[in-house]
Amino acid sequence: MLDKTDTEALQREAFRRDVLDGLSRPTKTLPARWLYDDRGSELFEEITKAPEYYPTRTETAILEANAGRIADLFGPEAVILEYGAGAGIKTEIVLAALDRPGLYVPIDISGDFLKASAERIRARFPELAVEPVTADFTADFDLPGDLPETGRRGGFFPGSTIGNLDEREATAFLKRMRRHVGRGGVAVIGCDLKKDVATLVAAYDDAAGVTAAFNLNILTRINRELGADIPVESFAHEARWNPATSAIEMHLVARHPVRFSIDGRTFAMAEGETIHTENSRKYDVEGLALLVEAAGWRMDAVWSDERGLFALVGLVAS
Ligand code: AVJ
Repeated sequence: MLDKTDTEALQREAFRRDVLDGLSRPTKTLPARWLYDDRGSELFEEITKAPEYYPTRTETAILEANAGRIADLFGPEAVILEYGAGAGIKTEIVLAALDRPGLYVPIDISGDFLKASAERIRARFPELAVEPVTADFTADFDLPGDLPETGRRGGFFPGSTIGNLDEREATAFLKRMRRHVGRGGVAVIGCDLKKDVATLVAAYDDAAGVTAAFNLNILTRINRELGADIPVESFAHEARWNPATSAIEMHLVARHPVRFSIDGRTFAMAEGETIHTENSRKYDVEGLALLVEAAGWRMDAVWSDERGLFALVGLVAS
């Protein structure tokens, strides 16, 4: 087993490599997962409460309104696999609706985060067996071989995290989840839907500036963890719609020419040049159906809100 210091050192090394690689490309990028240090996670929590950021509250309301139907899909004594622990209230809504759940398996790359959310679930559902798995669900991994075979296995992937993956990654993820649930398995995934560009852009550029602070925080993190000297105030947050990829992109735009150094390497950016920090792809239900079908699933149910902002879809292994 790696202890905490080893894990932190490995993470730091991976961060350094991703930052130096990403900023050395002709179009500068940083992988979105590095947005979530302690401060970034706190700011994301705050984003979910911003009036313009509709996904979290809409998805929660859809789950509440359809908890019984979702529980029916999972069936009695289900083994629930949650990809990315920490959906908090959303997970609790589903678990509370289930008929005698067999086991809850939260899967997350961050051991600390996983421990905290497993503890919260244990406190709220003292009867429920919980078996956390530390894994990066965007890479290939196997489940422990000794999971109980009670009811169906059901994947749960809320939050529209699927939107952060490109088509290749999303297909690979869906195939992996399909393999994990096996024959007769099911899944419920949350997905933000295509809509007018103004609504989308506002959701990723709230008036109070919380999303801007969230995006800019990655620069503060680079300065702190990699001993860099990026002038954070020289950058502005921008949310853009890319029609070619159906994605909202977050960028950090240089307000004027800037130079900085990271780990002894110097970087220069022209005014208006950007660092691309996140993709959040939006689907329509038909596009999502095609995506899941290519990965061994059949779309069995669609639960949405009145305005069609967001969808939870029920999948059955085909
Ligand atoms: C948590 C990745 C689903 O893409 O909507 C929110 C992250 N970024 N505002 C999303 C996010 C900017 C969020 N996900």
